[in-house]
Amino acid sequence: MSYPHVFAPGRIGKMRTKNRLVMPPMVRNYASLDGSVTSRYLDHIERVARGGVGTIILEASYVAPEGKGFLNELGVHSDAMIPGLKKFATAAHQYGARIGIQLYHAGRQTSSKTTGVQPVAPSPVADPTVNEVPHELTEDEIGRLVRSYAAGARRAKAAGLDFVELHGAHGYLIGQFLSRFSNARRDGYGGSLANRTRFGLEVIAAVRAEVGRDFPVTMRLSGDELVPDGLMLKEVQTIAKRFEDAGIDALHVSAGNYASYAQGLMIPPMAIPDGPLVPLAAGVKKAVKKIPVIAVAKIRTPEMAENILKRGQADFVAIGRTLLADPEWPNKVKRGKLGEISRCVACNQGCISRLFAGQDVWCTVNPENGRERAFAKRRGAKKRVLVIGGGAAGLSAARVAASRGHQVVLHEQEARLGGQLRLAAVAPFRKGWTELREDLVRDVVRLGVDVRLKSRFEPADEKGKYDLAVLAIGSSAVKPKIPGIEGSNVFNSREVLKRQALAKGRIVVLGGGCAGAQTAEFLAAKKHKVTVVEMTANFATDAPTDERFLLLGRLAKLGVVTMLETKATAIGSGSIEVENASGKKRILADTVVLCLGSRPNDGLVSRLRKIAKRVSVVGDAAKVGRVTDAVLDGALAALSV
Ligand SMILES: Cc1cc2nc3c(=O)[nH]c(=O)nc-3n(C[C@H](O)[C@H](O)[C@H](O)COP(=O)(O)O)c2cc1C
Ligand code: SF4
Repeated sequence: MSYPHVFAPGRIGKMRTKNRLVMPPMVRNYASLDGSVTSRYLDHIERVARGGVGTIILEASYVAPEGKGFLNELGVHSDAMIPGLKKFATAAHQYGARIGIQLYHAGRQTSSKTTGVQPVAPSPVADPTVNEVPHELTEDEIGRLVRSYAAGARRAKAAGLDFVELHGAHGYLIGQFLSRFSNARRDGYGGSLANRTRFGLEVIAAVRAEVGRDFPVTMRLSGDELVPDGLMLKEVQTIAKRFEDAGIDALHVSAGNYASYAQGLMIPPMAIPDGPLVPLAAGVKKAVKKIPVIAVAKIRTPEMAENILKRGQADFVAIGRTLLADPEWPNKVKRGKLGEISRCVACNQGCISRLFAGQDVWCTVNPENGRERAFAKRRGAKKRVLVIGGGAAGLSAARVAASRGHQVVLHEQEARLGGQLRLAAVAPFRKGWTELREDLVRDVVRLGVDVRLKSRFEPADEKGKYDLAVLAIGSSAVKPKIPGIEGSNVFNSREVLKRQALAKGRIVVLGGGCAGAQTAEFLAAKKHKVTVVEMTANFATDAPTDERFLLLGRLAKLGVVTMLETKATAIGSGSIEVENASGKKRILADTVVLCLGSRPNDGLVSRLRKIAKRVSVVGDAAKVGRVTDAVLDGALAALSV
């Protein structure tokens, strides 16, 4: 099938694009501390451009130092940034991709921890997620900031970039002025919509004056901020018209701000259906006269992209995480190789969760992301690689080793590949883990890995038979010493997810981490009465913010009861005894499900040393972690041979 609308040339202002696919801005945390371009970042952007996307928008890049939001974010605040940005332009242009940069200032959505100074904002009201009262900008300071955006645009143009995007979305500075949620000013910059739009219009005018009429300037807006008193589509439509009249060449429609981030619409997780923001893009498109509109958010399939364009809901389609997962997506789609795509599974583990934790951006399904140079290294002679365990880490090791031309044999003791990915996918709203398992299995088969199922590997005495043995045998559930824990009504969550019939009647889940919460959801959705007992004061804190918010909402709807700061002291046949600050009590429990963590299965290593020159222990077998850690661990082990 071809996708004529996706691959039709496009136009933004005077700029022509080779297709309608856009990589939206995504902070990677790959830049130097001073905001300049690094070779790692350059390799990454070069790889994305090579994959066939028509237009790349470089990440939110701060126009002034106090507007920086992440430590290793890209800056456009000084002329010293120009040489690095030039390299980005060259990297993209060699593949015929257009490249622009998002000019931004975080306003109150950053902290003095990141910038060293008090944040600034239209009004001295703290963002509820940052909790730091910002300095209220004076009119002089506003004027200085307007000039900073213009200077940023000048630098972008001088570097040979093709356009700039003004970041008016996600509750950053321009958005802060636009919205009553953050703007309580009583001067000419606050109150009426005309006043709230003033800052944005001044920025547009100053940028235009700097770069001229022909240099494209686009704007990103939140079509709905999803907060009380925040921007909603109707008002955004009016803003869009004003910005179009002021000379904006395209509008890029996202949603939300930090306060509504957890609702999962800005960067939709697995639990949110694909394409949730398309109606907002379509709404903005209806409001503007002739400028193109870019739709974004969890647009993962070429069919969806094609339909959005065909129906006229938008003129361009931005695919962000999809390109982190597989930068070759546009070329593969164009050549009809859909079956080779590595799908973004919307886990948010490798990318945005890491960014919000102050780390660099990875991609769970694509360990090469951000490590392009290491993976591009030529392999040496063909090696013999043994992988034991067909879960996420083992499959990932096998995939990378085989893709580098090595001879790989993989032993899995069960009848199917996937390990814990199969169990993780059983809980509601976890379809992404099935997609990852399918893609990994497809790849190891396609790459000719010798997969041996129902095969419990026993090292025979064949000294030095393998160049590398990768031990990926996962972890086992922890079973603490609680009286009654050996009872016939006690199971661990893995057993229950595998065989639901084990769980009967009223259920108590011991352990309220993310896994416990998901097991509780799985069982409550099957109509069991479920109580979760958790020792700490918090529930599911190891889940990504958005996932946690949505999960807690669903658990409340399902009537799941949570007992925090409570510990189980004894398990009986129809009840358990728990203890908390108010003393001991018994709660009814026909079945008790343990979700108290895992510990590595690390046997075999010394015996493997006899048959392999090197042994790598990866994934949960080395250290219990998330899927993203397991996939990377396996891939790096394979890369090392
Ligand atoms: C790691 C990461 C960083 C992001 N940084 C930015 C940013 O700098 N500016 C911005 O407007 N949006 C940012 N976003 C949002 C994306 O541009 C995009 O709107 C969002 O990921 C949804 O699209 P997708 O489902 O295609 O990824 C970021 C998203 C991710 C995952
Ligand atoms: S880490 Fe997960 S959500 Fe992020 S790009 Fe990769 S697969 Fe998608």
